[in-house]
Amino acid sequence: MTATTPAVEVRGLVKRFGDTRALDGLDLCVPEGAFFGLLGPNGAGKTTAVSVLSTLLRPDGGTAHLLGHDVVTESAAVRPLVGLVFQEATLDPELTPREHLDLYARLYHLTDRRARVAEMLALIGLEDDADRVTRGFSGGMKRRLEIGRGLLHRPRVLFLDEPTLGLDVAARAVVWEHLRHLREAAGATIFLTTHYMEEADRLCESLAIVNRGRVVAQGAPEELKRALGGDVVCLDVERLDGIESQLSNVDGVIDVVREEGADGSSGSVRVTLNDGPRRLAALLEAARAHGVCEVTLHRPTLDHVFLHHTGTHLDTDARTESAA
Ligand SMILES: Nc1ncnc2c1ncn2[C@@H]1O[C@H](COP(=O)(O)OP(=O)(O)OP(=O)(O)O)[C@@H](O)[C@H]1O
Ligand SMILES: [Mg+2]
Repeated sequence: MTATTPAVEVRGLVKRFGDTRALDGLDLCVPEGAFFGLLGPNGAGKTTAVSVLSTLLRPDGGTAHLLGHDVVTESAAVRPLVGLVFQEATLDPELTPREHLDLYARLYHLTDRRARVAEMLALIGLEDDADRVTRGFSGGMKRRLEIGRGLLHRPRVLFLDEPTLGLDVAARAVVWEHLRHLREAAGATIFLTTHYMEEADRLCESLAIVNRGRVVAQGAPEELKRALGGDVVCLDVERLDGIESQLSNVDGVIDVVREEGADGSSGSVRVTLNDGPRRLAALLEAARAHGVCEVTLHRPTLDHVFLHHTGTHLDTDARTESAA
């Protein structure tokens, strides 16, 4: 292993469940020490990817290496290097945080068990609640305990599957703060999955956007948004007919995508254009005959990146879609 061995390297990974290709040729490269996010809608294959990388699931094709070790043929070497926090809650409501952590410390045969548990309780901010059973803990407190447990044996790569799923905005912000802090303290590579665009944007230095078991875009959040270029203007209009050609002629327009409303004639258009604020007036003038009812202007978001690459929004449920 050299200093340049990636924390995670995945090539053409395939995992099938019956007729479903949960992973359909997934490619990833995560440098060691990165704060990395796998962003994608429900059913995109995020949990499946994490399960394969943490040796819980065998792939049907392709390769996956963790710090240079093959996750299938060298799973015994991989296991101690990874920590895993599951999407589903896994705490025992009758145990306290100290008991949860102590149990894990024993499982991993940690020699400095008591000191390590005390250290982790402080790191996750649960010292004052260390000896209360977790029944009745808030969602955020439970998540912090699960994250602390995942880091207890000092893994080099921590997998977090949807770390803030179901938490309210305030609890999510607290967990984010802890993750940033823990990452500094633990020096581990963080590999998280999320379908919250904001989480990926705020927390991750590097992202892969997945859809239907494949990576559709990879890079730093800013880079991905910048690659789209320009600003985004959304117009709700009464009559869509012919609007694309009309707006495409406006100076600076890069891309026009229309979304029809239920009646098929009204709807909205998403216009990507350079120097949006300066050209907004010209754009509105060009759309005037279509009966503009609402206008918004903003910088591209990760949802626009997703929309650009897949033609659907990030909050689309891939399972519902494929079932339809
Ligand atoms: N054990 C299983 N048996 C059958 N199908 C499965 C199984 N696990 C996952 N799948 C299917 O594989 C696809 C990917 O699922 P996966 O759980 O990896 O997605 P995900 O991105 O984690 O979604 P979510 O955001 O809902 O957690 C889905 O179509 C899912 O229904
Ligand atoms: Mg999942």
